[in-house]
Amino acid sequence: MAKLNHSLFDLKSNYLFSEIENLIKASGHKEIFNLGIGDITIPLSPYVIDAIKNASEEMKYENTLQGYGSSSGYDFLKEAIVKNDFENLNLTKEEVFITCGSKYSIANIIDLFSKDNLIGICDPTYPVYFDSNIIGGRKENIVLLPLLEENNFEPIPNQKLDIVFLCSPNNPIGTAISKKTLKKWVDFALENNSIIIFDAAYVAYIQSEDAIKSIYEIKNAKKVAIEMRSFSKTAGFTSLRCAYLVIPNRLTVKYENDNYQLNKLWNRFVSTKHGGVSYPIQKGALATFDPQGKKEVLEIINQYKENTNLLKNGLKSLNFEIFGGGDAPYIWCKTKNSLSSKAFFNLLLEHKVVCIPGSGFGSCGEGYVRFSGFTKKETINKALSQIEKI
Ligand SMILES: Cc1ncc(COP(=O)(O)O)c(C=O)c1O
Repeated sequence: MAKLNHSLFDLKSNYLFSEIENLIKASGHKEIFNLGIGDITIPLSPYVIDAIKNASEEMKYENTLQGYGSSSGYDFLKEAIVKNDFENLNLTKEEVFITCGSKYSIANIIDLFSKDNLIGICDPTYPVYFDSNIIGGRKENIVLLPLLEENNFEPIPNQKLDIVFLCSPNNPIGTAISKKTLKKWVDFALENNSIIIFDAAYVAYIQSEDAIKSIYEIKNAKKVAIEMRSFSKTAGFTSLRCAYLVIPNRLTVKYENDNYQLNKLWNRFVSTKHGGVSYPIQKGALATFDPQGKKEVLEIINQYKENTNLLKNGLKSLNFEIFGGGDAPYIWCKTKNSLSSKAFFNLLLEHKVVCIPGSGFGSCGEGYVRFSGFTKKETINKALSQIEKI
């Protein structure tokens, strides 16, 4: 008899964002002003799309045809990543692995580790860190790290952990962890032989001077940290699917009497589990590093930043208490009149405005909602006037 992975029953019945979609549909509104989504709304760079088209054209001809690529990605893209995203940090292409999205990287990296690790996950959190550990049977081993206003929404290393997920700039809060706090985490991991999984999906939005882009800017972080980045929020690849993770050569884990390089184990893992990212998409990702691609991608990011600012100022002028929105396109907003996150979400939905209830990201998100700048200016203006009416 086939037996199910019983840990699946420990998941909430719906993934947070699917649940919101269902509630929007059930509201019956024909017109919705959606300030909730974490997905792109601006068309992609034409230069990047042309690169994808040209790479697809190559498949028509015998001399440019491509068959299976490496599961961990083409060298041309890895070399460009090392040169452009990690200048002066002495990484090599062998330490970079291309995947079909950071969601894949996050959900699978955890399979390299035994079930009995203590896993630190921030609360509130991007749900994939939590859910993938639940699926992996670690429900009892998750330690929640509260992100509280009194700590500037930064996680504090104050208890034993084997693996910790840090998201900076943060989804859902929209702030970046300061260099000082990140150094504390690196020191903690060095002392405790722990591993940091550093998710920098929103790195392109960083503006704060005390925020750093790569964890490897901190001394010795290469011994303890895996860094993940994605072309999704940087270059709009949410449907095209391309991301990468860096596992430095110096990152080793002790097993019995030997030390094992984690990147060798990941390479072995993906060569079985991952078919790689398609050649045209990797060529498109490569084009984001060309001068014209960079220019067009930056223009789009700047538009999202402007939208986030517009939304931030609008909410402020309506006397909302807000956080974030500077280093990521997300604004963390306190509900009014002590309403619960869900009650505030429902109230806005009645008025055709969508946000994401903070409690959906974890219990410390109760009393907050997340607004997103991944939208259009007219949607923001219309949503703000709807909120004003309430
Ligand atoms: C913090 C964070 N990490 C990773 C992802 C997933 O990115 P990808 O599209 O590369 O799978 C998201 C998507 O919303 C995210 O918010």
